[in-house]
Amino acid sequence: MSMPRIFLVGFMGAGKSSVGTALAARLGYQFFDLDNEIERRLGTPIPDVFAHRGEAAFRAAESDELARFAELDGVVVATGGGAFCSEANREVIHSTGGVSVFLDLPWAELQRRLAHDHADRPMYGDTRQARRLFEERLPQYLCALVRIALAGDESPEEVAGRVEEALREAPCAI
Ligand code: S3P
Repeated sequence: MSMPRIFLVGFMGAGKSSVGTALAARLGYQFFDLDNEIERRLGTPIPDVFAHRGEAAFRAAESDELARFAELDGVVVATGGGAFCSEANREVIHSTGGVSVFLDLPWAELQRRLAHDHADRPMYGDTRQARRLFEERLPQYLCALVRIALAGDESPEEVAGRVEEALREAPCAI
């Protein structure tokens, strides 16, 4: 059986890390959180990277880390909300046989989640800016090979089950 790479994509607050952990456990794959790997690589928390080195330095490290995972087998990778919005990153994921999965939540639910959980998310700005960013990014998230439409009241385990089901039905699947 092939051991693909699964990349969870979607906006901040979509639950990529918690769903990724649950999905990796179900599949017996290894789980990686791209943001944690970037922090490890740069030796600083992400808000400090943005504050002291700027977004471009963060994006460069993000692309480097992503490329590293595109060579591994049997992994689930939770990406940061901006990673899949780079065409080059999408190309790296897909050209190496990776499967992108978009966790698609309505803006109202993301807003509710992020209202009290945006302090460590430099791209959030304020509610208006975050909403604009969400709308700009939506067409890019829709480039994912698999889309999981969610209401937001599902547990990470339920979502992981939905993802596994969708992957088993997909031609590129697990
Ligand atoms: C970002 C989202 C963050 C993190 C960084 C940039 C973005 O990850 O990668 O702050 O551009 O949307 P989460 O989606 O896990 O919050």
